[in-house]
Amino acid sequence: MNQTERPIGVFDSGVGGISALQAMIRTLPQERFIYYGDTANAPYGTKKTEEVIACVERVTKHLLEKDIKALVIACNTATGAAAYTLRRELTIPVIGMEPALKPASEIRKTGDILVLATPLALHQEKFNRLMEKYGEGAVRVPCTGLMELVEQENWDGARKYLQEVFALYNLKKVDAVVLGCTHYVFLKKMIREMLPEHIVITEGSAGTARQLKRVLARGKILRETGEGSVELETSGPESELEKMRRLLNRLIPE
Ligand code: DGL
Repeated sequence: MNQTERPIGVFDSGVGGISALQAMIRTLPQERFIYYGDTANAPYGTKKTEEVIACVERVTKHLLEKDIKALVIACNTATGAAAYTLRRELTIPVIGMEPALKPASEIRKTGDILVLATPLALHQEKFNRLMEKYGEGAVRVPCTGLMELVEQENWDGARKYLQEVFALYNLKKVDAVVLGCTHYVFLKKMIREMLPEHIVITEGSAGTARQLKRVLARGKILRETGEGSVELETSGPESELEKMRRLLNRLIPE
């Protein structure tokens, strides 16, 4: 198949990356996407780096068999663990995600930036480097268990979880909240309603979609005509697919 016509592989540990997929479909409506949720091995964020790398290699191998033209790691945790290695090993472009700390640091006045992410993502080398550059006032807020609530579509449980998290901080002194895990992006509307208006929420899905477009255009493999499509796959039970479809249609405010 001609390069441009080939699909784009996107994956996450479960449904989280679907939030980024939504942004990619908006930005690149003519592309063909294959989304893979590694549900059988979720969560990634409480595993060891080597374990996540093993999961990522398995998923990547599967997606490469589908003849993808680019790979999007729609997961902050997996990007931190494996993007560097994948970029060295693969000949196709690899697009990763990282907590949107840079834009948060740009709007920060003198207050704190709460970075919500998985424990593993917050303790990786990659995140440490990001903290060195843009981390003034930033506080690591590991949210163990929150991705599971999103996987279960337990929105009441997630609200209660977040209320407890935010109660630990003086929100008057917080300038920004970073949603550093693609699962949490599904909670953006809820979080917006919970936080005082002056707090800016940042997350990486739109930026990732723009980056993907730039990379495809640069490689002259951007699909600009014809209909786009989305194929959903999971390493978990078949029943996951219905949930994935539901979440793909769940409106996330930009
Ligand atoms: N969605 C993933 C991320 O962006 C992590 C969820 C997990 O598997 O722990 O980091």
